[in-house]
Amino acid sequence: MKIIRDTQRNCARMAAEEYRKLLNENPHCVLGLATGSTPEMLYEELVALCKAGKLSFKDVTTYNLDEYVGLDGSHPQSYRYFMDSHLFNLVDIDKTRTHVPCGIGVTDEMAAHYDDEIKQAGGVDLQLLGIGHDGHIGFNEPHDAFDLGTHCVDLAQETIEANKRFFDGNEDLVPKQAYTMGIKTIMQARKVLMVANGKGKADIVKKAFFGPVTPEVPASILQMHPDFILVGDEEALSEI
Ligand code: GLP
Repeated sequence: MKIIRDTQRNCARMAAEEYRKLLNENPHCVLGLATGSTPEMLYEELVALCKAGKLSFKDVTTYNLDEYVGLDGSHPQSYRYFMDSHLFNLVDIDKTRTHVPCGIGVTDEMAAHYDDEIKQAGGVDLQLLGIGHDGHIGFNEPHDAFDLGTHCVDLAQETIEANKRFFDGNEDLVPKQAYTMGIKTIMQARKVLMVANGKGKADIVKKAFFGPVTPEVPASILQMHPDFILVGDEEALSEI
């Protein structure tokens, strides 16, 4: 595990540099992408690099971590909408090569097919992650089994509360389930990059990376990943 500590902006720049290198070395790479407020600054940096001609998404394939059950891509709080507005619509990517789990009309079997698609595309070269306050990655909540692929989850109350800020502060509007890549899917990525910002993440960052590896703290499994980088600001890393 490699840990990088700097200001939020510098963390976003360093993370963007990882992408610049990867996309220049391997223009056909497969990216695992994430949503939430944490990656927003990184996406800004990627858009700026693309506009400056320093990287191109032209031949890149992407797979997002997760999507709320019941929201289609035109819903402003869907993760498809987030990705389109923060990255895909702003860079030279071929949108037909961008994948976000579908939130509507999906059976468990169809959800599991997401893992087959990723495999057929060659597997994820670089998986981006944030971390939830309860240690979730993607939407793999505490106690979810480590050996699951893409599946449907019930969101933890803590996650519903944390995410209600995106739904006019109204908990009732937050979907209660989501489709998420499983921990198994995430761990199969060749490299994993987690960004963590702010005081609110300090306790969970300590538990996840300096405590036992346990399904109670889903992110703790990343201690076992052979190529994992944690990039965080002073506040998020203040307890380690
Ligand atoms: C959501 C997403 C996660 C994200 C987490 C933290 O629940 N499914 O992928 O890491 O929230 O979000 P934020 O970055 O806004 O703190």
